[in-house]
Amino acid sequence: MNILIIGGSGGIGKAIIKHITRSFPEASVYATYHSTLPELKQSNITWFKTNTSLDTDIKELAEKVPSLDILINAVGFLHTFDQKPEKSVTQFTVDFFNQNLNANTLPTLLLAKHFSTHLKAKKQTYFISLSARVGSIEDNELGGWISYRCSKAALNMAIKTISIEWKFKLPNCCVFAFHPGTTDTPLSEPFQKNVPTHKLFTPAYVSQQLFKLIDKTRPTDTGKFYSFNGEELPW
Ligand SMILES: NC(=O)c1ccc[n+]([C@@H]2O[C@H](COP(=O)([O-])OP(=O)(O)OC[C@H]3O[C@@H](n4cnc5c(N)ncnc54)[C@H](OP(=O)(O)O)[C@@H]3O)[C@@H](O)[C@H]2O)c1
Repeated sequence: MNILIIGGSGGIGKAIIKHITRSFPEASVYATYHSTLPELKQSNITWFKTNTSLDTDIKELAEKVPSLDILINAVGFLHTFDQKPEKSVTQFTVDFFNQNLNANTLPTLLLAKHFSTHLKAKKQTYFISLSARVGSIEDNELGGWISYRCSKAALNMAIKTISIEWKFKLPNCCVFAFHPGTTDTPLSEPFQKNVPTHKLFTPAYVSQQLFKLIDKTRPTDTGKFYSFNGEELPW
């Protein structure tokens, strides 16, 4: 089994890799990082330094990776040291919006562009992107975080659109967006203080839930937005 984890250096990405190496020791894992090579070094893990917002980097990655059973995109961005998500639209800046789009939306589009042939070869394949419930337009009752919300809503639209195109071109592939729930990683760290402990998940738990979902879903389930508990979310 060949599995590609995009953003294998992130809190959830790393936990997904650990889950795979424990549960599927025979699997070959291909993983990307952006800044620092993670301490996860095993003979069945191949690392690539990749800027997932660059067409050229994703194209080059696609040339180095063999056909795949599962591709999971765990790249994401919510804040920087000096810039937190907007509480009001008056705080909106073009730069921060573009940073959100670059990290949260672009990678999935580029991955779909360059990896469709990799996901065609096997009998049953998965193309999964980590999204966020706050990207659901129907579910938005709180407002705020406008750049992150818009970038995840655009990601959701990309996933839905890719799933429709691939129903015909890659009928073996199940395409879905996955909401991990609030998970204890650097991305959520500044926003954890009001989250009750039982609602703050470990990356290990979330990875386990994602693989339960992979086990349960088939190509006929393509084009859905799933929560960590397997529930379907409105787009
Ligand atoms: N944690 C939560 O509570 C939560 C909730 C809902 C949804 N999510 C979603 O779950 C996914 C994983 O998040 P996480 O919590 O694991 O976050 P994280 O620990 O901050 O990891 C983020 C990952 O994205 C990569 N990344 C960020 N900007 C990038 C860029 N411009 N180019 C390439 N790679 C970039 C990072 O690479 P480097 O570290 O190598 O730079 C890292 O691998 C994200 O899509 C996030 O939106 C998380």
